[in-house]
Amino acid sequence: MNLELNGKTALVTGAGSGIGQATALAFAREGAQVVLTDLKPDGLDHTAQLIRDANADVRTLTVIADAGQAHDHKQAVQQALTTFGRLDAAVNNAGMGGENVPVADVDPANWQRVIEVNLSGVFYGMQAQIPALLQSGGGSIVNVASILGQAGWANGAAYVASKHGVVGLTRTAALDYATQGLRVNAVGPGFIETPILGQDRQALDHLASLHPIGRLGKPEEIASLIVFLSSPKASLITGAYYNADGGYLAR
Ligand SMILES: NC(=O)c1ccc[n+]([C@@H]2O[C@H](COP(=O)([O-])OP(=O)(O)OC[C@H]3O[C@@H](n4cnc5c(N)ncnc54)[C@H](O)[C@@H]3O)[C@@H](O)[C@H]2O)c1
Repeated sequence: MNLELNGKTALVTGAGSGIGQATALAFAREGAQVVLTDLKPDGLDHTAQLIRDANADVRTLTVIADAGQAHDHKQAVQQALTTFGRLDAAVNNAGMGGENVPVADVDPANWQRVIEVNLSGVFYGMQAQIPALLQSGGGSIVNVASILGQAGWANGAAYVASKHGVVGLTRTAALDYATQGLRVNAVGPGFIETPILGQDRQALDHLASLHPIGRLGKPEEIASLIVFLSSPKASLITGAYYNADGGYLAR
């Protein structure tokens, strides 16, 4: 599909694995230059190699960055501008799981780290990205929330709170920039088969059974939604929160 992203520059956080990697590959397939950021260099290199293998003409930039650090986001955007001269789309995807315990037992240090990466990370990301996007005439931000941006999950306090926060932050940023050609949306994946879910087959089968379609999602099924929302084809869509969850929230 031609999403009119050819020659545009897209930045994806958490691009070394799972949904971020699939999103970076999907942008590259559309002919966009891709800025890949992640905490882990190995994953970044792997994603850049996959992009090169698929299309030698697509230019990539890899930046090691901690999503929980405002400074790292600023540096990534600066490097993107230095290398490609513009920024047209940003995807704040980097995220982590939290402890699996009831609220009273949550370690405050773990709470803080999850909020720092999953929620403040999106805030820091947007603060760094927005001036560059506006400078390029507008564009799009997509923040990766979760179905748990809308529903609760027993023993998942920090993660659930962080993802609910991402949805509210997204709606507010959309209102702030609605007249300036900058669209801001969130996506809510159901459970997607990526390393964040671990490898316990029984647990994965249980999670799959919670989705009416009877299986877990694939990273590519979230990437296609993100890249569409990032494209000019989604020009009327801002402040939205789209779930892609195999019917999870329909029950
Ligand atoms: N997999 C799911 O079931 C699911 C469901 C809903 C939402 N999500 C969200 O999707 C996003 C991507 O998750 P995924 O499933 O692809 O997981 P993943 O573990 O495959 O990928 C996450 C990537 O983020 C990176 N990362 C983690 N902490 C970081 C930090 N502080 N700074 C920079 N990079 C960091 C990791 O190194 C990794 O490359 C997350 O925000 C997650 O919460 C995932």
